[in-house]
Amino acid sequence: MPHAPTPDHDEPTTAPVPLRVSRRRLLLALAGAAALTAAPLGGARAGAAPARAAERAARRAGARAAERVIELLARLTLDEKTALLHGATDPDALGQAGYVPGVPRLGIPALRLADGPAGVRVRRAATALPAPVMLAAAFDPGLARAYGRVIGHEGRALSQDVLLSPMVNLIRTPYAGRNFETFSEDPLLSADLVAEEIRGIQAEGLIATVKHLALNNQERDRMSVDVRAGEQTLHETELRGFEAAVAAGAGAVMAAYNKVDGVHATESRALLTDILRERWGFDGWVMSDWGAVHSTGPALTAGCDMEMPGGAYYGAALRRAVRDGRIDEAAVDTAVRRVLAVRERFGLLGGPGEAAPRPERDPRAGARLALRVATAGATLLRNEHGTLPLTGPAARSICVVGPTGAVPFVSGGGSAHVVPDTAVSPLDALRARAGAAATVTYALGEDVYGKPLTRTDPAHRLDDVGVAAGETHRYEGTLTTTADDDWSFFVHYSGRRPVVTLDDAELFPAQAGVGGFVNGGIGGRAADGLHLRRADRHLPAGTHRLTVTAQGGAAGQRFRLRAACGADRAADVAGAVAAARAADSVVLFAYEDATEGRDRTGLALPGRQDALIRAVTAANPRTTVVLNTSSAVTMPWLDATGAVLQMYYPGQEGGPATAAVLFGDVDPGGRLTQTFPRSETAHPTAGDPVRYPGHGGVEEYGEGIHVGHRWYDAEDVTPLFPFGHGLSYTRFAYEWLTVVPDGEGLQVTFTVTNTGTRAGVEVAQVYAGPSPDLAARGIDQPRRLLAGYRRLPLAPGERRRITVPVAARTLSSWDVTRHGWVLGTGAREIWVGASSRDLRLRARTWVAA
Ligand code: BGC
Repeated sequence: MPHAPTPDHDEPTTAPVPLRVSRRRLLLALAGAAALTAAPLGGARAGAAPARAAERAARRAGARAAERVIELLARLTLDEKTALLHGATDPDALGQAGYVPGVPRLGIPALRLADGPAGVRVRRAATALPAPVMLAAAFDPGLARAYGRVIGHEGRALSQDVLLSPMVNLIRTPYAGRNFETFSEDPLLSADLVAEEIRGIQAEGLIATVKHLALNNQERDRMSVDVRAGEQTLHETELRGFEAAVAAGAGAVMAAYNKVDGVHATESRALLTDILRERWGFDGWVMSDWGAVHSTGPALTAGCDMEMPGGAYYGAALRRAVRDGRIDEAAVDTAVRRVLAVRERFGLLGGPGEAAPRPERDPRAGARLALRVATAGATLLRNEHGTLPLTGPAARSICVVGPTGAVPFVSGGGSAHVVPDTAVSPLDALRARAGAAATVTYALGEDVYGKPLTRTDPAHRLDDVGVAAGETHRYEGTLTTTADDDWSFFVHYSGRRPVVTLDDAELFPAQAGVGGFVNGGIGGRAADGLHLRRADRHLPAGTHRLTVTAQGGAAGQRFRLRAACGADRAADVAGAVAAARAADSVVLFAYEDATEGRDRTGLALPGRQDALIRAVTAANPRTTVVLNTSSAVTMPWLDATGAVLQMYYPGQEGGPATAAVLFGDVDPGGRLTQTFPRSETAHPTAGDPVRYPGHGGVEEYGEGIHVGHRWYDAEDVTPLFPFGHGLSYTRFAYEWLTVVPDGEGLQVTFTVTNTGTRAGVEVAQVYAGPSPDLAARGIDQPRRLLAGYRRLPLAPGERRRITVPVAARTLSSWDVTRHGWVLGTGAREIWVGASSRDLRLRARTWVAA
């Protein structure tokens, strides 16, 4: 989709409101409180008296706000109204994804809308936070709020008004390209996190946009795929997060690209009006995903208030439709009123005393939070024979292997890519941490940048060529290969992409089907920041025609054409094996470069990384594999490793965070929020093209409500690593479970003790079994659903008795005969443990309405 040009082209919500606060802050706080009390089911309950006072104040503030909105609405012309309902080009070119011009005549300022999920995506640098999937791994809603606050603050500081985040679509299939951008396969965890992140973002004065409503769980055919989930599944899985976002007061919702039940999400009255507004009481505005509007009347009247990023349907076409009497102007007014009301709530209408001064960025605070999240989400999947932490003799000499060891893997690609303030590589961080006491060596292992081309004729330097502005650099010659071989070609460039042909076929054509998105992590940039493209070709031995045309354009450019063949690869692996053998411990960095716009084609690590890991672990079994991946990968080499540490896309502080976890300065605090399957054929969307990627344009949630870990339980399939799994450097014991009713919910109380000698973090998880009463009515239920959790930092020997509340909603199912929630009464099983497959305590309780 067309995107704003990027440099690469191609704590509780009911907290008391302080007395001396600005009107704007008061409105924000009250809006949050009002939204909570308006939650259809199970919102937080505040004390009665403060809640009444807050409601009165909210009503007064709301009345003033409504007056201003009504007054503006009456003064706006049709042209001005429609201009407030669609995007345009930002004259200041700040690099964010969206811009809506203001109405200077009425003092309404312009609106800037920036991605995204892991930090503010503008042309300037911002704090590149760990990907949301890593935040989620901490199982810590409080941390999600702090994460939101950093993005909210930065967004305001970077001249933005609306954040196009958080994304709360479930991780339904491990192939999905955007799994790093979202939280989890579990509806409860996702809902908790999205709500707190939104509270954090909006507490700073930035409007949060929860996206993408709904069922946008894959990138394959995302513009057209028609997703069908059925009413019960929809409400019990995907919608939970959106509902929580609305209850948390989200100002905006983004309607997805895909269709839902045969209708474009942007035209789905069922989603945008019946559920969102009427059932949940949403009072913000709905915007389309970028280019997701396909009509004027149907979209507007279904409840899609704003078309982004342009105005193909909501500009002239909408004005014409109103003037011709095909669309009632009242529909335009409704949409404008919704947009203006949120803008008023956030002080973004230019009213007197409203324009809160923009804060300064605080990069140090951003970096601190980025580091905290990256250690809290670091997930230790395997640790045999005390491979980690790196201490004592094992830490005297360490060999780092892999391209992402030396070049920091900061973030994923697509609209979630952030220009980081800074980023230190794991290698440098490990060297700094190890100090003089240890030797840290490095071996590339797998080349992702290529080596300078040698066998060209005429001999010509194609490595690091500068082309002056307005000039063209041409090479026409040959490349001679001596054996049949698999080649990888790489072009590194600034400015315009050079045109390179090999045997008359273009090697690096414009990328089709990915909306111009480039990889964010390692595949999109060379170590020095030049753009990077790669092409893999099998070449027979012989002489091949090679041409390069590089144009300097207006600003000049630099490029390098590089390649790697079998002999180069073998030399890289041999170098890594020799270096690994010579070291006491090895830390091998493996990666998978995910981006919006395309799904993965397989679950294996890309390229030849599996072979590299096999070779290195054979040379030195004291090898830790650090994974910078978006989602699950298969691990055919697992048994040969000492340890596996999942670091996802760890943001700008990923290097220091990785070093801190490897050396044991902090306990790896993360747990899996998505199940890792054993193979390509053993996961919820395997083996049935209708489930994934869809067949004949239709994709069905064939697993029904059994998304993620629920499917593994329902089908008795053993995963590679279960949902909730993650090791600590210490041990925890679980004891004394009691379960008592709390209204229609439960209070689950148990004791966790750190029985080891180190401080550590446990994530205690509560699971609930099905209700016999609902089963008797034929309502499908998960065999075990996540009912609650608690992140617990514990000192050595420390014991804590904790209570995890389980809400009535969590114990309820969606009844399609009543189109509503029904409490799962009767005798129910409760389990407590360290993962969905490591259940330590069990009790039976009685749930009564
Ligand atoms: C993505 C959205 C994003 C928008 C603006 C779309 O392609 O799907 O998540 O917010 O672009 O960048």
